[in-house]
Amino acid sequence: MNTNHSLAQRDFSVLWHPCTQMQDHETFPIIPIKKAQGVWLEDYDGQRYLDAISSWWVNLFGHANTHINAALKDQLDNLEQVIFAGFSHEPAIKLAEKLIEVTPDGLSRCFYADNGSAAVEVALKMSFHYWRNKGRAAKTKFITLENSYHGETLGALAVGNVPLYKETYAPLLMNVISVPSPDCYYREAGESWVDYSTRRFALMEQTLQQHADTVCAVIIEPLVQCAGNMRMYDAVYLTLLREACDKYQVHLIADEIAVGFGRTGTLFACEQASITPDFMCLSKGLTGGYLPLSAVLTTDEVYQAFYDDYVKLNAFLHSHSYTGNALACRAGLATLEIFQQQGIIEKNCQLAKTMAKVATRFHDHPQVAEVRQTGMILAIELVKNKHTKEPYPWQERRGLKVYQYALSKGVLLRPLGNVIYFMPPYIITEEELLLLAEVAWQGIQHAV
Ligand SMILES: Cc1ncc(COP(=O)(O)O)c(C=O)c1O
Repeated sequence: MNTNHSLAQRDFSVLWHPCTQMQDHETFPIIPIKKAQGVWLEDYDGQRYLDAISSWWVNLFGHANTHINAALKDQLDNLEQVIFAGFSHEPAIKLAEKLIEVTPDGLSRCFYADNGSAAVEVALKMSFHYWRNKGRAAKTKFITLENSYHGETLGALAVGNVPLYKETYAPLLMNVISVPSPDCYYREAGESWVDYSTRRFALMEQTLQQHADTVCAVIIEPLVQCAGNMRMYDAVYLTLLREACDKYQVHLIADEIAVGFGRTGTLFACEQASITPDFMCLSKGLTGGYLPLSAVLTTDEVYQAFYDDYVKLNAFLHSHSYTGNALACRAGLATLEIFQQQGIIEKNCQLAKTMAKVATRFHDHPQVAEVRQTGMILAIELVKNKHTKEPYPWQERRGLKVYQYALSKGVLLRPLGNVIYFMPPYIITEEELLLLAEVAWQGIQHAV
């Protein structure tokens, strides 16, 4: 019979896990999950874990969701996958129609890929190619924010800016222009998020002014730099950025892979700035956390620049074998149905307030520099010195101690460095949030 121990041993012999120093698993075995229901995961020894991070930010409505399950079972009996060049299917068409309906006005074309990084690659290539088709071949560069994250493939890694993931591969990566982030953690005492984000925009404006002729696009994570320790900024930055991109004829790529689908309080973060980007990248929550799928939404203006006689060789010849996978598209449709039928955005408003309430006690903790929140993302920044914000040396791996402690108490928290965060499925109850906060509190006591 399978047990945690037997499966962990077999796993350790043959598998190589993502974003992991495998040696850590000599002393802290991997946890094999047997089944999951709602916000709860269950391992082979019967221990349960509250999935406080939505299984890497993908799960929106719980595991084994009855609505998505039913849609997928139906889809499975009809069509699982078909080549997406020269062929199509109803779930892909319907999902594209729906995405165009719910994303900001002006986005009217949907290109599918199969994971977040691939969507970022698509957006970068499309932007570059658009300018080339328009006779602006000198536009070859991208502007990105410090502390940003856009994925792990070489193009996506190049436009990201988290040194831990990027530095090793630096010799392989295209050069990008990095602009200091509007990350409000660094605002002056008493300075508002709006004021700080506005002030920081001056650096972006200068960069755009200086490099517009050679820049294709600015790529940005709207409102929250998630992998960059859940750092947050005000929507005013996005409004100003949209205006400046128009002024300098540079595309705006909104990477909503992590923040899309209700995470920041609105269906898409761009809504809070009332802007339409030239490209919007979506993935993660797109299928409710069921299957890998991504989409790049763009404008008719972009689409028309590729629409031409074949012999002019202007077409976008990018592809992935699983582009527009039928099962994944059907899961996406079921996910959007839940948003519409169950008034999720309105309900999340209340849930976000409950999250804030259960986290109140952390504000005064002597090792917490900041508790910040944007919608359904709440982050607690642990530091060595609350007043100077001096961080703990990363080698001490304080976050890992919180992680291990929380697991022993049946909660899956997976801190980013020394930042503990809650990013739960939207079906979490107040009782479960209280449990989460209590375990996080004890975990911090244990780690500091
Ligand atoms: C903002 C953002 N962009 C892109 C990605 C990459 O997505 P994927 O892991 O599906 O390649 C991530 C993943 O965390 C992300 O947070």
